[in-house]
Amino acid sequence: MYKVKSLIEAAQTSPLTLIPLAALLATPFLLRGSPKRSSIIPPSQERVVVLGASSGVGRVLASLYAARGARVCLVARREAELKKAYAQSVVAAAAAASGKKSKDAERDIVMVIADASDATQMFDLRTRLEKEWGGLDTLLIMAGVSALRPLLETAGVERQGGGGGTFVPADCTLEGLQDGVRIASAAIKGNFLGPLVAALTFIPFMTRTSPSPSILHLSTLAAIIPMPTRSLYTSSKAAALTLLQALAIEHPEIAFTNMLPVTIEGDFRRSAVDGGRVREDDPGANGLRREDVAKRCVEAVDGGERNVFVGGERLNRLFHLMYWLWPSAVERKTRKKYNFVV
Ligand SMILES: NC(=O)c1ccc[n+]([C@@H]2O[C@H](COP(=O)([O-])OP(=O)(O)OC[C@H]3O[C@@H](n4cnc5c(N)ncnc54)[C@H](OP(=O)(O)O)[C@@H]3O)[C@@H](O)[C@H]2O)c1
Repeated sequence: MYKVKSLIEAAQTSPLTLIPLAALLATPFLLRGSPKRSSIIPPSQERVVVLGASSGVGRVLASLYAARGARVCLVARREAELKKAYAQSVVAAAAAASGKKSKDAERDIVMVIADASDATQMFDLRTRLEKEWGGLDTLLIMAGVSALRPLLETAGVERQGGGGGTFVPADCTLEGLQDGVRIASAAIKGNFLGPLVAALTFIPFMTRTSPSPSILHLSTLAAIIPMPTRSLYTSSKAAALTLLQALAIEHPEIAFTNMLPVTIEGDFRRSAVDGGRVREDDPGANGLRREDVAKRCVEAVDGGERNVFVGGERLNRLFHLMYWLWPSAVERKTRKKYNFVV
């Protein structure tokens, strides 16, 4: 008390002394934080939906939650792949949760073949969850599609002769324009409408039924630092990112987490909506490990983190800032990464 009083007196002579005063007054609030989510929802009672669970990070993530004893609903479109992921989660659930019989483990893991961007299928999923689980605590939006070509190529226009070269044909034909729109629609459907339909479907439901609702979206570093040959991918992922960031403001009762990883191992590029070729150095082998990204997702949800850089965090934070201060330097770097020559 004496310390505060003397600081107030000092502030009357020099306003600079207000800084330590403000820090002193804010300390109890900063230290208090919010209660740990696990004390509100024990991991073994968590109800989790993974949109995009048939392969990649989503598949690993579903197993991690199953291994914590959570009830997990795996969602994706490819039945055969989803069945394999489901079996993996059931095994994880049975092995990890001591005392849990394999029949109980099976009951706690649900598999639903559905398209995340389809309103009817998401409505049916919510109806089923309400009936079987009575609510939802954690929504993990992992689903996404890639696009690997420069935009004009999707409309049938190529640049000939490198830098400053002419376009062939000189302009987009009508068919080319229609192709461009069709391909862009697929990217928007996969990367933007999926998260949007999920948000519309689950926000009121989660708010109503969970004591600590949480939504995680697996975005990408490319959503905040544009990359060449990824114009459709970066823009559709960026739209979803800002959608979820805006929703976080509109729904402060829900913890929103956006993951911003660099390249991840695996065959994500197989889903390219434009059939483009891979230009960077073997992404399947050189990317982040799926297990590491999945673990970081769990940690981020548990800790209620908002925007999470994954892989070279400090450098990429700096890169993001640098893009606004010195765009040409960052653009040069991105051209190099994707072996893109103009
Ligand atoms: N791989 C990378 O280098 C990288 C880097 C940064 C960010 N990311 C992001 O990470 C996420 C996951 O990528 P990943 O590497 O794990 O690739 P992945 O193996 O292709 O996983 C994508 C998952 O999403 C599902 N999916 C796609 N569209 C769907 C839809 N409309 N409805 C339901 N499920 C759908 C896929 O299953 P079905 O095809 O069976 O539906 C699959 O299970 C993506 O959103 C991507 O943007 C990836």
